Amino acid sequence: MARKKPLVIVTRKLPDVVETRMCELFDARLNIDDKAMSRSELAAALAAAAVLVPTVTDRIDAELIGVAGEQLKLIANFGNGVDNIDVAAATSRGIAITNTPGVLTEDTADMTMALILAVARRIVEGAKVIPAAEWTGWSPTWMLGRRITGKRLGIVGMGRIGQALARRAKAFGLQIHYHNRRHVAAAIEEALEATYWESLDQMLARMDIVSVNCPHTPATYHLLSARRLKYLRPHAILVNTARGEIIDEAALTKMLEAGELAGAGLDVFEHEPAVSPKLVRLAAAGKVTLLPHMGSATTEGRIDMGDKVIVNVKMFMDGHRPPDRILPSML
Ligand code: 8YV
Repeated sequence: MARKKPLVIVTRKLPDVVETRMCELFDARLNIDDKAMSRSELAAALAAAAVLVPTVTDRIDAELIGVAGEQLKLIANFGNGVDNIDVAAATSRGIAITNTPGVLTEDTADMTMALILAVARRIVEGAKVIPAAEWTGWSPTWMLGRRITGKRLGIVGMGRIGQALARRAKAFGLQIHYHNRRHVAAAIEEALEATYWESLDQMLARMDIVSVNCPHTPATYHLLSARRLKYLRPHAILVNTARGEIIDEAALTKMLEAGELAGAGLDVFEHEPAVSPKLVRLAAAGKVTLLPHMGSATTEGRIDMGDKVIVNVKMFMDGHRPPDRILPSML
């Protein structure tokens, strides 16, 4: 008789090919309707599954991990960021955590560059004009944005996505500056002609565009605090495709309302999916561009993420170390 396969519970609808493969390999319980699980549904899933496959929309805190059954051995996150999971609590209960690094780097960097261009060149505002039948003709002084070439881009967090953004930005003629916990390898710094700033405050004070590309951890929560945001110059643009919690969103909103910042491009929000009405008003006024967490949203990317989850789960079930294991010391 075939051995019973361990139960894998997937919290959201994944691409069809990923789900098909999961059903072939595992006893997979899918969420075809894609309705986000409630807290009690998540608790039930943690109590039943051997492996849970959550996403950024599932908050798996210490209290929920406390109700996980003895049979829960792996939380294989469908996503790169693991700030939705209390990694320390899971690890101390002997539950392994994995993520999906690498496969969403280029897509997220593309979206970051797109947001920089959208804000600087007023693309979203401009794209509304013709469908609204408001275009009366070309004018030399209408819809003027800001030039990208020659400006200084400050990247906060020079990991995979930060570096992929730097490569794109360099091709657009931007000067690359970055703040990171440590220098990147000299060869990378040289190739990007990148300037390292040990002091984030000093970097912020000198940039034309700032992009947030670091993970959200306890150390980066409100890294761009009200105090730090004040260093930005009034003509600066701030872009965030990482996590909303890294910026003090209320303080940023106030500065935008007061005209203390030229604009912002936000793909992520502090209280996702809630977006403050003030930010929505600023978007309507053309001061900010808001996207609904689309950084990694390509068909190819989501399939690659699913493939990574499958490899992690399969390796783990086969008794090997899953390739994308996350340990508390890595955060
Ligand atoms: C994903 C992301 O959409 O992977 C990440 O960290 O922010 C997004 O690209 C999401 O996290 C999926 O769980």
